[in-house]
Amino acid sequence: MAALLEVRDLQVEFRTRDGIAKAVNGVTYSVDAGETLAVLGESGSGKSVTAQAVMGILDSPPGFVTGGEIVFQGKDLLKMGAEERRKTRGDKMAMIFQDALSSLNPVLSVGYQLGEMFRVHRGASKKDARAKAVELMERVRIPAAKARVDDYPHQFSGGMRQRIMIAMALALDPDLIIADEPTTALDVTVQAQVMDLLAELQRETNMGLILITHDLGVVADVADKIAVMYAGRIVEAASVHDIYRAPAHPYTRGLLDSIPRLDLKGQELYAIKGLPPNLLAIPPGCAFNPRCPRARSVCRTDRPPVYDVTDDAGRPLEPPRGSACHFWKEQLHDRPV
Ligand SMILES: Nc1ncnc2c1ncn2[C@@H]1O[C@H](COP(=O)(O)OP(=O)(O)OP(=O)(O)O)[C@@H](O)[C@H]1O
Ligand code: SF4
Ligand SMILES: [Mg+2]
Repeated sequence: MAALLEVRDLQVEFRTRDGIAKAVNGVTYSVDAGETLAVLGESGSGKSVTAQAVMGILDSPPGFVTGGEIVFQGKDLLKMGAEERRKTRGDKMAMIFQDALSSLNPVLSVGYQLGEMFRVHRGASKKDARAKAVELMERVRIPAAKARVDDYPHQFSGGMRQRIMIAMALALDPDLIIADEPTTALDVTVQAQVMDLLAELQRETNMGLILITHDLGVVADVADKIAVMYAGRIVEAASVHDIYRAPAHPYTRGLLDSIPRLDLKGQELYAIKGLPPNLLAIPPGCAFNPRCPRARSVCRTDRPPVYDVTDDAGRPLEPPRGSACHFWKEQLHDRPV
């Protein structure tokens, strides 16, 4: 069965006054119906830009897709005409952003904004749209939805506003939702509630979910698989289980070691040394080499392809697993450098 969404070798660049910033350099990932893909990586690694390219909302200019394919339900979105693309996006894909307050209109009631989805896209009457809005608010577990439908965004807490954003995304029954750091602006307990809600709704609807985050801690419970991004590439792709058991890329190892652990309270938290590269001048060879504890001379000259990670007998894994590290085997078995 074909995947719901398959991004293949996607390339995006920003043409700026200072030069060409290569924000996405050959990203390949896929997500099936009912599946959650978590996309991880430090700030600036290209997570959002990839998502914007998929949604067709890239800031262009200065951003341009310069290569690759984005195949959604069997059709390459990059080859569609503007009208077909717009319709596909409106009907079948939705995005949830980090900052609910700036995504909602402060002078319109929440019920009006939710109802608008049905009036504009489904031609619903005012009365029906309002009923639908209440229904949606109940689906995302907003207490006393009927009484609160006419309230304005500022009358809701941050967590409730994010629920409203989720409701907005669910309104037209999309097949795919991309959530870009949906809980970053919330405090920790509310984060967990919103994440659980997303996971629950996904099970109910069987939609595909791409969850963008730089917090490895939140993905363990909700994601099926993980794609780790670094300098615009996927450096490791694997099931959640495999990644937590043993990462096959030194960068993933570093991210895992940076998760705060309750049992190590008081110990200094590990941080990956150095900074991500300037995208105007990505280092040759492996982009991670200046920061990598395993780097050797070949890493400074030869860019690692995405190797198939295999078992000890050289057989491919199921689900398949990839690592863009020349020394993935050493990392996988955690052999000393
Ligand atoms: N509008 C823009 N103009 C120029 N460059 C841009 C623009 N948007 C993004 N970029 C470049 O693309 C890079 C990747 O940005 P992106 O927003 O995808 O990072 P991210 O992985 O989502 O990071 P974060 O975790 O901070 O959200 C940025 O470092 C920036 O250099
Ligand atoms: S290819 Fe080399 S520099 Fe890159 S992650 Fe692997 S060991 Fe480190
Ligand atoms: Mg981002």
